[in-house]
Amino acid sequence: MHRLYSLALGAMTVALTLTASGASAAKLTREPYLQRVGPDTATVAFRLDTACAPTVRYGTHGSTDQTVTAPTAQTRQALELSGLEPGTEYTYVVDACGSRTSPVTFSTAPVPGTRSVHFTTVGDFGSNNQDQRDVSRAMLGRKPQLFLALGDNAYEMGTEAEFQHNLFEPMAPLLAQVPFFAVPGNHEYETNQGQPYFDNLYLPTSQRGGEYYYSFDWGFVHFVAIDSNCAIGLSSADRCTFEAQQQWVEEDLAASTAPWKIVFFHHPPWSSGDHGSQLKMRREFSPLFEKYGVDLVLTGHDHNYERTHPMRGNEVAPSGATDPVYLVVGSGGAKLRELSIASKPSWSVLRNNSDHGYLDVRVEGGTLTAQMLTPSGKVMDSFTLTKDLPPEPTPPAPGPQPTPGTPSTPGTTPSPGQPPIGGSTQSPPGVVPDLGDPNDPADTVPGCSATPAMTLLPAGMWVLASALHRRRRR
Ligand SMILES: [Fe+2]
Repeated sequence: MHRLYSLALGAMTVALTLTASGASAAKLTREPYLQRVGPDTATVAFRLDTACAPTVRYGTHGSTDQTVTAPTAQTRQALELSGLEPGTEYTYVVDACGSRTSPVTFSTAPVPGTRSVHFTTVGDFGSNNQDQRDVSRAMLGRKPQLFLALGDNAYEMGTEAEFQHNLFEPMAPLLAQVPFFAVPGNHEYETNQGQPYFDNLYLPTSQRGGEYYYSFDWGFVHFVAIDSNCAIGLSSADRCTFEAQQQWVEEDLAASTAPWKIVFFHHPPWSSGDHGSQLKMRREFSPLFEKYGVDLVLTGHDHNYERTHPMRGNEVAPSGATDPVYLVVGSGGAKLRELSIASKPSWSVLRNNSDHGYLDVRVEGGTLTAQMLTPSGKVMDSFTLTKDLPPEPTPPAPGPQPTPGTPSTPGTTPSPGQPPIGGSTQSPPGVVPDLGDPNDPADTVPGCSATPAMTLLPAGMWVLASALHRRRRR
């Protein structure tokens, strides 16, 4: 997927260009931020000081020749761009009744099944301090396809004003150019059970849980967002219940045939940080993660970084097992905290409470490579997970078009008799746990851990063939 980011454009993101001096011109009080980005859709949200019906102008190859205009004049706007091309860079500006933003770019999600995904993630950043800005700027510099926010996105109480001041203002350049998907932290729940969080974000939804919990595929990775506040009893029953969410998580994971599965939420099942392990999350959800082949569990809450071995139940998984690896990535900007357990537990591979930073993850084919980076680029941790994938289908030869009736729309459910999309039966157990000493350089340098062996059923062959065919035609 091509993706041409311009740092120069990025630097201009926050600069509004007023093109009219008329008193009727509305001013953006919040820069555009990208929500619900998929292969063919994106939502551009922003706020205005005066009610007006703005227009988003967008297009490919640097043009902005397509438009979508808000149906009503109001100060809170979220305009959906539809009919987009997957894996394609778009430029966009906001025309707000006389004022216009500087052009910036983003890319749509790739064709479902695409075997190359790059994202960054961190939590506990919403402080409007220099550490948050540094982490945010560094993430933008990595040019990720998407950004996962792990909660405590706006300290201290998650109010409307704090979302503006502690999330949208300090992270404006990142959020204007990188699609972001969030889960709520406990601090968001301090105000009306997170209502300002839900008011300000436009998240994917699940039929049962709305924006509280949801999932989406990006390329060949299945992402599942859990509201751990709801799970530990902080929601009223009319909004979100543990039981409904747990059942949905099981059904969602069971239904996914994506080769890679990544779950993210705020409260960590495993942590030796200040708050420690959230045992209900471990007891109630980890068995599902193990049963359905979740590869990575991303959390925050504790203001430090920590990585576990692959875990099964309450123990380190046997050597050669493919059980989930749990991360705490709570070093996004809030003040770092002391660890609650002085001596590193046996289940913990590595921990760091002296550096702010973020996790950069690349999933290429059967290899997931993660780096925990400081804003200056120092590598705090690096690890690799691997699994065997079936070979990618050969691109169709030029000439005759596919047989009539062959699905050509990416993401369409295959007809009976066609191969399933994905398929993640594990045999034999896969990732070999890294049981080494974190003081051993071999255990803390890039590519240290993991060895293969997760065998997958034939995956999404027709989808990939179709995608490749489409790409060749462009
Ligand atoms: Fe928290």
